[in-house]
Amino acid sequence: MDEPTPNTVRVSGPSALSGTVRVPGDKSVSHRALLMSALAEGTSRIRGLSNGHDVLHTAAAIQALGAQVTTNDDGSVDITGAALTEPSTVIDVGNSGTGIRLMAGLVSTIDGLTVLQGDASIARRPMDRIAIPLRQMGARVDGRDGGSFPPLVIRGGNLRGIDYAVPVASAQVKSAILIAALAADRETVVREPVRTRAHTEEMLAVRGADLDVDGASVRIRPSALKALDDDVPGDPSQAAFWLVGAAALPGSSVTVQGIYLGHARGGFLDVLRRMGASVDVTDSQLVPRAFDVTVQAAELVATDIVEEEIAGLVDEIPILTVAAALASGTTTIRGAAELRVKESDRVATTAAMLRGFGVTVDEFPDGLAVTGGAALHAAVVDSHGDHRIAMAASILALAADGTTTIDGFAAVDTSYPGYLDTLASVAAGDPVG
Ligand code: S3P
Repeated sequence: MDEPTPNTVRVSGPSALSGTVRVPGDKSVSHRALLMSALAEGTSRIRGLSNGHDVLHTAAAIQALGAQVTTNDDGSVDITGAALTEPSTVIDVGNSGTGIRLMAGLVSTIDGLTVLQGDASIARRPMDRIAIPLRQMGARVDGRDGGSFPPLVIRGGNLRGIDYAVPVASAQVKSAILIAALAADRETVVREPVRTRAHTEEMLAVRGADLDVDGASVRIRPSALKALDDDVPGDPSQAAFWLVGAAALPGSSVTVQGIYLGHARGGFLDVLRRMGASVDVTDSQLVPRAFDVTVQAAELVATDIVEEEIAGLVDEIPILTVAAALASGTTTIRGAAELRVKESDRVATTAAMLRGFGVTVDEFPDGLAVTGGAALHAAVVDSHGDHRIAMAASILALAADGTTTIDGFAAVDTSYPGYLDTLASVAAGDPVG
C-alpha cells in the first residue's frame, strides 16, 4: 500500500528524467474489469488492477451491489459476480467521472433504486449525456437540476434497446449505454461522432457479449457475460507524464514498460513524433498484449492538435502542453471543449498552471495556444483538485530554475499513488521535497 501523497509538494529544477518505469494498471480497463466481473456468473481473477482511489471506489460500489471482491497475496483481485441487487447505502464514486457514468449504466439494469454521489468536482460534471439515453432505455434517472448533475437517483430494470447517436465524443457515454444494453429486451445501437477508446466493446466481446463494431457504431444484443482471468495493461495516460517529460527535458531518456496502446490511447505518441521526439515502441515481455515505449529528448517544434485527434489524447492534453511550453513556436489545441468538463476546467487550469511558470498562453472556448521557448521561472501552482494538472506541473517544474510549489498534489492518488516515488527515482539529482 502506498503512503498517501502529501498535499503540498516542492519540485526543484532543472533536471532531466532517465530510467525504466512501470505505471499503474490502466484506469479505464480497471473500472470496466470490475463492472463486467460483477455482472458475470462465476469468479474472475484480475491482475494488475489500478490502485488509484477512483478504481477503489468502483470496487466498493460493486460490493454494495452484491458482488464479492477479494484481494490475493500476489495483488490480483478475485471478483465473484452476482445477480446485482438494490444497494442499502448511497454509492460514493469519489472523484471518478468514469465511475459514476459507467455505474449509472450498470445500475440501470437493476430492478431497484440506486443513489450515486461523489466529491465536489463530480457534483459539477454533466450527467445529461447519460441520463437522456438511459431514460430512453426505460431507466428513471433523476438528479440535481432535473438530472443534469449528481447526486443521481436511478430506478432501473425493464430496459428496452435503443438506436442512439451520441452527440459528444465520449467513451463514458458509449460505455454506459452498452453496459445497460446487456439487459435490454432487444438490440441496441450506439453511434459515435468519432470512435472513442474501445475498451468496453473489446472487453465485452472477450467476455461473451453478442456485439459487432462497424466503424464508429456498436450493435449489441442482450447478453450474459462470462467470468474471465485477465491482465490489466499499464496506463498510457500515466506513462505520458514520463514519456512527454523525457521528450521535452534536455538529456532525458525514459522507458515505460507494459502499457496499453490500443484504439484512441496512443495519440500523444503521434504528437510527440510530429514535434520531433524519438519514440521507440516494442512488444512488452512483461504484460500480454502491451508495449514498452522509450522516448529520448530532442529539440521539439510546435504542432497543431486538431479536433479529430482529441478523442485519442483527451487526457494527455495537460502534459502535452508541457512539451509545447518547451518547444519552439506556438502549439494550438482546438476542438477540445470537453476539457472544460473534466476533473477541473482543464482549459482554464492548464492555462493558469503554464502562466505560473512564465509561459505565454491564449485560451479559446475549445482549446489553447501555447508559445514555447521562453525561459521559465519556478511557480506556485494550484492543482484545483485535478490529478493531471498536479502531475503536469511537477514535470514542467523540472524545466524551471528554482523550486516550484504545487498545492493540491494529493489529488494524484485518484489515479497514481506512488507517483512521487517514481518522480524521485527518475529525476536526476534530488528534486522532490
Ligand atoms: C474515459 C473516457 C474519457 C476520459 C476519461 C476516461 C473512459 O472521458 O477522459 O478519463 O474510461 O471511458 P470521455 O469519454 O467522457 O471523454
